[in-house]
Amino acid sequence: MSNLKHLFDNNRNWAKKIEENDPGFFKKLSRQQNPEYLWIGCSDSRVPANEIVDLLPGELFVHRNVANIVVHTDLNCLSVIQYAVDFLKVKHIIVCGHYSCGGVKEAFKNSRLGLIDNWLRHTQDVAQKHKLLLAKKTDQTQAIELLCELNVIEQVQNVCQTTIVQQAWERGQDLTVHGWIYGLNDGLIKDLNINIKTAEELDTVYDLAIKSLA
Ligand code: CO
Repeated sequence: MSNLKHLFDNNRNWAKKIEENDPGFFKKLSRQQNPEYLWIGCSDSRVPANEIVDLLPGELFVHRNVANIVVHTDLNCLSVIQYAVDFLKVKHIIVCGHYSCGGVKEAFKNSRLGLIDNWLRHTQDVAQKHKLLLAKKTDQTQAIELLCELNVIEQVQNVCQTTIVQQAWERGQDLTVHGWIYGLNDGLIKDLNINIKTAEELDTVYDLAIKSLA
């Protein structure tokens, strides 16, 4: 017998509640998924994608990794984006970071944690790119919160620059890429003013979003 019995109990209660609310819910959903949104977020246990935006199974396609990083050679993330854009035809890709992100904090501090340092190097690159902006924050906690925001904006740009999103826009597909940040303190999402619908507006909107943080 699994010593995780309580999780199976939780699962049965959860499924029962959903079925009571909407009989046949799981049968319907098992036939197809038709989500409008792709969520790219942090693996942090305190940032559960569906719950935050109060969406049901079937409504959100999700990719999560440490510090919500999008790298052009990460086949895992790229495959998720490709499937979401080309086959599920999601209308929105949301990169949602969060304040007090452990990954961003360790990147900022140049910590030595092991293998993960190589992954967080991408966020260190973000810090290096914006070092003048970050240097304006004399308080370290404030600097880390700013890096959390900058990290989202850079990942939005990375999403927009993928061949997948570029080609979707070229063929006129309705697709917007958004940058959000979530507050662990209050459970609220903030829009980082980077919402991109076309390849042409990317640079301008990116510059404005960075400026609004300065
Ligand atoms: Co995090």
